[in-house]
Amino acid sequence: MRIPVTSMADAVSRLVDVSMQLDSQAVRQLLDQSGYPADRMAQHTERILSHIREDHDLCLLGASFDDVLVGLIALKLTSEVRAVIRYLVVDRQHRGDGIGRWMIESVWKRHSLSCLEAETDDDAVGFYKRCGFLVHPLGKVDRGILRYRCVRDLSSTSSPLAGCTE
Ligand SMILES: CC(C)(COP(=O)(O)OP(=O)(O)OC[C@H]1O[C@@H](n2cnc3c(N)ncnc32)[C@H](O)[C@@H]1OP(=O)(O)O)[C@@H](O)C(=O)NCCC(=O)NCCS
Repeated sequence: MRIPVTSMADAVSRLVDVSMQLDSQAVRQLLDQSGYPADRMAQHTERILSHIREDHDLCLLGASFDDVLVGLIALKLTSEVRAVIRYLVVDRQHRGDGIGRWMIESVWKRHSLSCLEAETDDDAVGFYKRCGFLVHPLGKVDRGILRYRCVRDLSSTSSPLAGCTE
C-alpha cells in the first residue's frame, strides 16, 4: 500500500534518534529485514547492533508512520557536511512507499550535507541511483552479489571514486 502524500508529511516529522532503543523489538524486527538469508539473519542483526553500540559516532534514526517504526538509517558524520550511511532498511510492507528516499532527503537536510555515501549491492544499487547517487562498482563480491560505492556529492568532483570520508 502506497502511503498517501499527506500522511508522508506526517511521517517526515517523525524521524527520531532511536540509538537508545537498540534492545527494542521494533528495532530488531526491522533490522531482521535487511535482506540476509534467514539462517544468518539473527547473527547479522546482532553484528549491526554491536556495531552501533560500540561506535559512538554512529547514530540510528527511525522513521515512524502511525506510531509504528517503518524505517531505520544508521548514519556516521565524517565531517560537518559529509556523512556515510552504514545501514538502511525499510519495513517490507512499506517498500515502494517512498520512505527510503524520504530518509535520505531527511538526513541530507537535517545535517545540511554536501556529500553522502553508502556501500550497497546489486539488490539496492537501483534505489541509490533513483535517489541521485553516482555509483561505482567496488570490484568485490559478498554472498555472490557485487558491491558498489554510491555517492551523492555537491562538491566540485562529483566522483563516486572519491567518497565522503575525506
Ligand atoms: C533499498 C530500500 C531501503 C529502499 O527503500 P524504499 O522505501 O522501498 O524505497 P523508495 O520507495 O523510497 O524508492 C525510491 C525510488 O527507488 C526505487 N527503488 C526502490 N528500491 C529499489 C530497488 N531495490 N532497485 C531499484 N529501484 C528501487 C523506487 O522505485 C523509487 O523510484 P522512483 O520514485 O524514482 O520511481 C528497501 O528496499 C530495503 O530496506 N531493502 C532491504 C535492505 C537494503 O537493501 N538496504 C540498503 C543497503 S545499504
